[in-house]
Amino acid sequence: MTKVAIWCRHQEDNVIGIGPNIPWHIKSDFQRFRRITEGQNIVAGQTTYESFPDRTLPNRNIYVVTLDKNYVVSNEKHHFVINDINFFKDFEEDIYISGGASIYKLFMTGAPSLMPDIVVDCVYMGDLNPNLKGEKVTITDCIDVLNKKYTQVAPDFELDNIVTKVYMRKGEFVEQSVLKRIILEITNF
Ligand SMILES: NC(=O)c1ccc[n+]([C@@H]2O[C@H](COP(=O)([O-])OP(=O)(O)OC[C@H]3O[C@@H](n4cnc5c(N)ncnc54)[C@H](OP(=O)(O)O)[C@@H]3O)[C@@H](O)[C@H]2O)c1
Repeated sequence: MTKVAIWCRHQEDNVIGIGPNIPWHIKSDFQRFRRITEGQNIVAGQTTYESFPDRTLPNRNIYVVTLDKNYVVSNEKHHFVINDINFFKDFEEDIYISGGASIYKLFMTGAPSLMPDIVVDCVYMGDLNPNLKGEKVTITDCIDVLNKKYTQVAPDFELDNIVTKVYMRKGEFVEQSVLKRIILEITNF
């Protein structure tokens, strides 16, 4: 099983959201996320899951992380409720950790066996949407781990004011076919 984390953060302050929303709207950012995660298993916190249009993303299984044992998903065939993050320690298939901040933090700073093997780190260089209300959501604690424990494995790729970098854990094995596919989806736009 390969664990991949994928996010897009604002340069310098590492903001990924304001309230429940992503504070930029860049088509190619959504397209990159779709290309990398289509046909895969996604892990999302309850807040992020609720922010997906109609609480779904086509052609993907979604593992919704919540403490609510009675949480009802929008699609019982493809969406699954996970109350304990340790479930993923023994999970056999690849997973794509898709936020929000609390979920990135659980995987990046929690048990070593939960740490992502690959991180797709997209950095948005533009301005945040000034019209959004709510708290800024940041992932600086995850970026600290990224800088210490990961190494960049592909050149920077820039598109529409977003620089995408791919990292893997220092000194660890990574499944080459997964890494290759991700890099191809990023560069072959
Ligand atoms: N820019 C990006 O790449 C990106 C990607 C994804 C999300 N986002 C943004 O991130 C923000 C949301 O992040 P967030 O941290 O507020 O919310 P979140 O991580 O999406 O979800 C938080 C919820 O996850 C559940 N949870 C957290 N820790 C848990 C644990 N240990 N065990 C079981 N369940 C747990 C809880 O659900 P219950 O309360 O139901 O128990 C909690 O309320 C939004 O602004 C969103 O737009 C940005």
